[in-house]
Amino acid sequence: MKNARLTLDPAFEIAPVNRRLFGSFVEHMGRCVYTGIFEPGHPRADEHGFRTDVLELTREMGVSVVRYPGGNFVSGYRWEDGVGPDRPTRLDLAWRQIETNRFGLNEFMTWTRRAGVEPMMAVNLGTRGIQEACDLLEYANHASGTHWSDLRVKHGVAEPYGIKLWCLGNEMDGPWQIGHKTAEEYGRLANETARAMRLVDPGVELVLCGSSNSQMPTFGAWEATVLEHAYDAVDYLSLHAYYEENGDLDSFLAAAVDMDRFISSVVATADHVRAKLRRNKSIKLSFDEWNVWNQSRFEGREQGDFDEAPELIEDTFTAADAVVVGDFLITLLRHADRVSVACQAQLANIIAPIRTSPGGPAWRQTIFHPFALTARHARGTVLRVEPRSPLLDTARYGEAAQLSSVATLDEEGVTVIAVNRSAHEELDLTADLRSAGPLRVAETHLLAAGADPHATEVAVVPLANARLDGGELRAVLPAASWSLIRLTFPKD
Ligand code: AHR
Repeated sequence: MKNARLTLDPAFEIAPVNRRLFGSFVEHMGRCVYTGIFEPGHPRADEHGFRTDVLELTREMGVSVVRYPGGNFVSGYRWEDGVGPDRPTRLDLAWRQIETNRFGLNEFMTWTRRAGVEPMMAVNLGTRGIQEACDLLEYANHASGTHWSDLRVKHGVAEPYGIKLWCLGNEMDGPWQIGHKTAEEYGRLANETARAMRLVDPGVELVLCGSSNSQMPTFGAWEATVLEHAYDAVDYLSLHAYYEENGDLDSFLAAAVDMDRFISSVVATADHVRAKLRRNKSIKLSFDEWNVWNQSRFEGREQGDFDEAPELIEDTFTAADAVVVGDFLITLLRHADRVSVACQAQLANIIAPIRTSPGGPAWRQTIFHPFALTARHARGTVLRVEPRSPLLDTARYGEAAQLSSVATLDEEGVTVIAVNRSAHEELDLTADLRSAGPLRVAETHLLAAGADPHATEVAVVPLANARLDGGELRAVLPAASWSLIRLTFPKD
């Protein structure tokens, strides 16, 4: 068995744990909204038609922010269709769906309050532009006395919502996007939209679209161009990434290496533009779509009939998927100095930690568990842990550290989260915690995929071998596993 080592010191701070890293995403796609979070008539629906079983699971997961209403969907969306008494039924061209508009902005905002999450809205910069984005913002955030704000009041919402986070479109670099644009076209439009939105509400935080993924032919150049146009007007640049096993488990278990490189590349590009423009401000990152998605099995929806709430990409996740999702969260935390928002895509049914059956139960998928435990225990400050790890050689991503790890420090204790990325070998971990002061192991959680990586149900069990020995934490991490160890300071 090989050894890995990490060292924790309260002085090695990366950044405070930003709760916005535990975000999710609700798109009008498939059964995410309809029969996902919203199903009037369901035995567990409340007076608004919200599924309370899904609300409970959302709270249990510790979701902090929810991005809405898309996704590709937003690039053809007329937000006015989803407010007030008249709800026209429309074709949604992004996913070939029938959109009834029974659920819209006000339903979503009521839902966010029930779920205890912060909204993150996207405006349509595909088929629409500056005016419609400003109208929506005025409807949502302006107090009253204008056409759009008074309409909101008329629709029964007296107080403005004060929504802070706004995405300037979605994946505008993607040829599949309705209203797809070149970087020049999008950069200019996003800049002008951002400037106008700030005139409506100076308190908004704006997200500029980066690349749809790091394999896009325009990746890098896109980021540089759009930032040169909109640097001063925006706060965040977005990243999206989905990963899948696709016949190579060894590489898949190291997929977070790619996420890590992706983040570092976008930081480098943003800082290059900062230097070129001679600005002091740093652009923060919003990793507002990330997950495992068996995309190679998805045939797209370009043909066939339009239908209502179709069953779309309802992937069933495995134990290996859960380990990889846990590793993505470690990676996002390790970049907490620049990644300030992150949304797992999506919340319900669509490649989601929560699945539902129409009229029936809701349940947790394997990937639910590392998310919920990380959201619960990663608090305070993220620390750099200076890991020393054996290396793995992967076909897809080249060299990858076998150990992926992060630690957080708060007033009550320390949380160490670790992934052993080897599909075959255990890893002997030593964590030097002496600088943190006296600690005791309070609870441990282990999700091991090694014995059956494709199991679709997992048990999260204690990491029974974890022990403290003279200020050093020792644990044997099983092959293909995710672990979380919570240590607490003595009470007095
Ligand atoms: O999350 C599913 C889809 O993936 C989103 O609509 C789109 O933004 C991305 O390509």
